Amino acid sequence: MGMWRFLEKQWSQATLGLLAGRTIASYERDFFTLKTVSLPKTQLAKDLEKLCKEKDGFLTLEEFYQEELYGEHGYYATKYRNVLTNTPPRWAHSMLHLCKLFGYHFFAELGPGDGRLAIMTLIEAEKAKYDLSWGGVEIAAPMREAITQNFKKYGFTAKKEFLVSQVKDMKVKDPCLFIFPYGLDSISPEVFINTSEHLDVPDSLVGVTIEKGILTEIILSPKQLASRGVSIKKGIYDDGKIQVDLSSWKLVPMQRAYIAPKVLHAVKDVVEKLPSTSRLCIIDEFRTDRGNYVSSHLLAPRNLLATERDCVDLVDGYERIGKTDYYFPFYLKSFLGFLKSLGIEVEYVDSEYYAAQILSTVKELPKETKLPGAYSQVIITAPLKGKKLAEKLDFPLDPSDLRTRIRS
Ligand SMILES: C[S@@+](CC[C@H](N)C(=O)[O-])C[C@H]1O[C@@H](n2cnc3c(N)ncnc32)[C@H](O)[C@@H]1O
Repeated sequence: MGMWRFLEKQWSQATLGLLAGRTIASYERDFFTLKTVSLPKTQLAKDLEKLCKEKDGFLTLEEFYQEELYGEHGYYATKYRNVLTNTPPRWAHSMLHLCKLFGYHFFAELGPGDGRLAIMTLIEAEKAKYDLSWGGVEIAAPMREAITQNFKKYGFTAKKEFLVSQVKDMKVKDPCLFIFPYGLDSISPEVFINTSEHLDVPDSLVGVTIEKGILTEIILSPKQLASRGVSIKKGIYDDGKIQVDLSSWKLVPMQRAYIAPKVLHAVKDVVEKLPSTSRLCIIDEFRTDRGNYVSSHLLAPRNLLATERDCVDLVDGYERIGKTDYYFPFYLKSFLGFLKSLGIEVEYVDSEYYAAQILSTVKELPKETKLPGAYSQVIITAPLKGKKLAEKLDFPLDPSDLRTRIRS
């Protein structure tokens, strides 16, 4: 056993012993092992098994979650109303105010749900006699249908410039405020893992096979990764579309980190498509600290409907497929590091709840911003001009200095 492994084991055992009276054996069995699970006998499980066959006999976990959440029999197909938030009534007035402040006559959203924020903002704009139109990127078909109906109901169909399911299909002519309203943390992650015997960067992804209703987690081989266009070498993830530097993510053996390349794709694609005087406004749940770093998986899924939101019991998670509103918030600091590597300057970060009120009245963005301890944050960027996209993007894991001011 290497020195690191020995120290980690001692440390983990001591910590967990203190916290929960666990032994190292039960801790490793529960957390840091691959799972085998009998799936429920549902149509969704059958769809997943079929998809698995079609895709060379395995799925990456991003593919698995995507089907579980957004597939024909997935969570969003049946329970889509559960995922809507109370952002729209709190933000509509502020959104109009921000559009006026920056001189935008167009705003757009990724993950608009049933279009409530759009409708409420357009109602405010109409009252203020301010010319404003909207565009949306929404992956869930039932949501798109609801948006179309709502725009018709409120007489705003002519104000809808586009409604598409993917960023690549949108066409933006005018500079805009592009809003991500609780959309990014609904995008499915890949599950990165360190399979080495010591503290190290992730070197592969977890995947699953599903046969006769039995799901088995596997470590994807370099060949399997290559079949999806992916390589992971020395902490650098490359999928042909983006290269991400994950070398600061030091994981203990068999520890996982749930990181969504699709989030990075989505933000990068949006930035590339927007006129350079546009701004991003990200309203989302983030994690402001890393909790107990070595005793759990990093950024494990959260279940919105559970009191204990972090999904520590991975077996239970599989057994409940299609019944759980999973979402995947990431560390605020990692996301800010990523924006920086995209060449995007952040102008304002604050607690979402207060920011909505403050921003509905200010004449310019407040100069002092802070990283709040609260879950939900709003991030507003400077105009995207001068956007120089780095070759290798950053998604740093840096526990220090999480709560310091950005602009002090
Ligand atoms: C938690 S809901 C929030 C809905 C709405 N913005 C609200 O605040 O009520 C997340 C939304 O993001 C959408 N979504 C998830 N992944 C997406 C993707 N890759 N592209 C576009 N929309 C996505 C979901 O379908 C859903 O409508």
